[in-house]
Amino acid sequence: MILIPRSLGFWNTISRRVFKAEYTRPGDESIRKNIISTLNEEETAAYIHIPYCTGTCWFCPYARHPVSKNNIDEIIGKYVKYLKKEIRTYGELLRDKNLRIMDIHAGGGTPSLVPAKYWREIIEEITSSFDAKPSIAIEANPEDLKDEETAYGLVDAGINEFSLGFQSFHPELLSRLGRRHSVEDSIKAYDNLRNAGAKYINIDLMYMIPGQSLQQWIEDLEKAAGLGPDEITAYPTLVLENSIGYKMIREGRLPEQPGMNVFKQMMYAAEDLLPRRNYIGLEIYGYSRHPDWKYVTVNYEMEGPLLGFGAGAMGFTGAYEYQNTCYPEAYGDLLSRNKLPIAFARSVSLEERAIRYTTCRLFICRSLDKKKFEYKFNQSFEKLIGKTGFKWFLKTLKLTGDIREEDDKILLTRKGLLTAHKITWAFVMNVPCRMVEECLKEPLPERVVIP
Ligand SMILES: C[S@@+](CC[C@H](N)C(=O)[O-])C[C@H]1O[C@@H](n2cnc3c(N)ncnc32)[C@H](O)[C@@H]1O
Ligand code: SF4
Repeated sequence: MILIPRSLGFWNTISRRVFKAEYTRPGDESIRKNIISTLNEEETAAYIHIPYCTGTCWFCPYARHPVSKNNIDEIIGKYVKYLKKEIRTYGELLRDKNLRIMDIHAGGGTPSLVPAKYWREIIEEITSSFDAKPSIAIEANPEDLKDEETAYGLVDAGINEFSLGFQSFHPELLSRLGRRHSVEDSIKAYDNLRNAGAKYINIDLMYMIPGQSLQQWIEDLEKAAGLGPDEITAYPTLVLENSIGYKMIREGRLPEQPGMNVFKQMMYAAEDLLPRRNYIGLEIYGYSRHPDWKYVTVNYEMEGPLLGFGAGAMGFTGAYEYQNTCYPEAYGDLLSRNKLPIAFARSVSLEERAIRYTTCRLFICRSLDKKKFEYKFNQSFEKLIGKTGFKWFLKTLKLTGDIREEDDKILLTRKGLLTAHKITWAFVMNVPCRMVEECLKEPLPERVVIP
């Protein structure tokens, strides 16, 4: 089997229908007006995209460009100059709103490639442009942090949460993903971060790797839990048809992925094994040792508000969604002409935001609290979701035993976990991954329709 969107059958069809959207390229004036008029909350999260990697992993679906380690300082120095300008521009644009940034995280690409001196500059720019804490969470590649000096430097610069891309403890599986680090590098990176005093460390693992067995996956879960990170996230390997890995499987240069039945066993293996090692399932793929901490990204992207900075970043005010150009040259060019680097954008209705919120809470975070929903939307869950076709979808899932109600909450059941995985991964491949695919076709497309 290959885990492409079509392999999720019914859920792929549903997700293509529910999340169909059209984006256009508005003028700079119109973008600014839309952002100011729709960002109406006192607090927001911020996301910084670092679109560089030292190579290409075979199944990578993210917005990134390969760079050589030899001239990384020069390339990143230039990029950071524009990144700071973008942050400053938003600070000025939103000055009258007295907006507080309560959470900043950086993804990529590879944020750990950015030297500590540049992280200091970025953090300084954020704290002088907004009311924000001088700390940040980043995604990191073990390739960079196996070096003790780099790990200490990043912690010292104000990075206090790390999400480390281990993926597997089996060397042959790392090479089937096209990773450029060894298992020993990952463990060294983890130890370096712990010794440097990083506050929280998450370990990313991947399953459904071509040719992976259930036993290998159980060993990976055991080994990760044995290290004692603050959180373990377990992602199935998603395959896009434009990836190198897809071509390699098709040509027989890589084995196929395990079948759907093994997918189910691997998913439930994480669900059963990690709680026995004191990890709590806060998301369907994320297990934390702390009831109140997880490496958060998805809630902000789905629910908003989120300010997106950097080439390839996505932002969502709550009623307006925008995607920055994925091309660093076009990004720098727009900013040097005092324009926001947005490639395409669209308005999002209140009903659509309510569906996104419900999808995120119920199918990713496992439960929806109707009181919190009402607080966020100023309307009851029944009234707002009742205006949409989504209410029938939820009724059906209740009948099939995938979700159940308890007081003011709707909860995902153990049976529903598999359905939630299918819904989530169909959404991820059809929406964010498709946006990246379109965004990488050209720097500033006129119109984008997804999926
Ligand atoms: C942006 S990457 C993390 C930082 C760094 N770029 C790296 O790969 O080490 C985020 C995570 O996505 C996961 N990932 C990568 N490719 C994936 C795929 N095809 N399907 C599902 N998850 C994937 C990996 O677990 C990876 O650590
Ligand atoms: S998986 Fe991470 S390191 Fe690999 S190419 Fe993608 S963003 Fe870069």
